[in-house]
Amino acid sequence: MGINILGMGKYLPEQKFTNDDFARFVETNDEWIRTRTGIAERRMAGWEPTWYMGKQAALQAIEKAGVSPDKIGLVIFCTATADFHTPSMASIVQYETGAVNASAFDLNAACTGFVYAVDTARRFLETDSECRYALVVAAESLSHFLDFSDRGSCILFGDGAAAAVIEKSDKLYSSVLGSDGSGAGLLCARALQTAPEVAVESDFEDGFPDKPLHKLYQNGKEVYKFAVSILPKSFKKAAEKVGMTKEDIDWFIPHQANVRIIETAAKKLGAPMDKFIVTLDKYGNTSSASIPIAMCEAIDSGKLKKGQKIALIGFGAGLTYGSIITEF
Ligand code: COA
Repeated sequence: MGINILGMGKYLPEQKFTNDDFARFVETNDEWIRTRTGIAERRMAGWEPTWYMGKQAALQAIEKAGVSPDKIGLVIFCTATADFHTPSMASIVQYETGAVNASAFDLNAACTGFVYAVDTARRFLETDSECRYALVVAAESLSHFLDFSDRGSCILFGDGAAAAVIEKSDKLYSSVLGSDGSGAGLLCARALQTAPEVAVESDFEDGFPDKPLHKLYQNGKEVYKFAVSILPKSFKKAAEKVGMTKEDIDWFIPHQANVRIIETAAKKLGAPMDKFIVTLDKYGNTSSASIPIAMCEAIDSGKLKKGQKIALIGFGAGLTYGSIITEF
């Protein structure tokens, strides 16, 4: 069973942060960032909480889908940068969008979140006859978790949100989800510490890098190697399941981390770069929101049309990966 994407929406905070803005507090420059990553600017959530950005994207997606919110049976909110440990972002958005009959939960598969969430929603749509529509929301405020003294990581990320309303259909569909937890320490941010009055002294070593509070740590070189190897592999695995090849795909919509990762993967796949949707120059890496934001841009610009075949390819912390091939 496959899915039909009925409507999508996106929300980008207004505040722009250029490469030159970083040069004010870390040793970097516009040329280095552009040539090593392809990123020119990104958005930063100021006052906007993650759930709020998700809600704005969700309202747009619901409107575009033309679905009454009370008919939505499931809300999945994917994020690695939730505002709360509890309640879930999904419960807040379920209330804020009027999806009164929906179950709601968060899903954290880092930058692969949207691929995991769409595939999870598809399984609900397939098995629960009372769940006719699912709302998948991806929103991230990475700026709240960045270590702004680490020039190798802080320049890469941005904030934003996007959402999709989907229903089940018999359209072409194939998916692959995976994880390699041996790389968990390569890209991580701790949860906030327990209150000091209940913390106990211990010499337990958890093996993760010691970063202050919840700041993001990244081993850029190792993550880069993982990304360029897994991106073509996971696509090929999903394509083989339905007897397809790269030639059958109209648009590759990969996670937007670094244009060099996308170029290397395109070369490995033997697919031309003009079949890849790239938006990271404007928004940086918005983690789970990057694929659906790129999809929204492709729809709005008229590139992505109904009936075309797309490959969504995600990878990220975990280390997680996943691909969906479907007809738009
Ligand atoms: N500005 C200027 N110099 C910088 C810099 C910056 N923002 N960040 C790092 N450098 C420096 C390094 O300190 C290093 O200096 P040194 O040679 O004096 O030690 C030099 O540039 C080269 O660093 P290196 O790490 O080899 O650069 P790179 O070409 O590998 O690019 C990344 C670094 C982070 C851009 C790259 O590794 C990457 O994109 N990795 C994947 C990250 C990713 O996608 N994460 C999210 C996945 S979901």
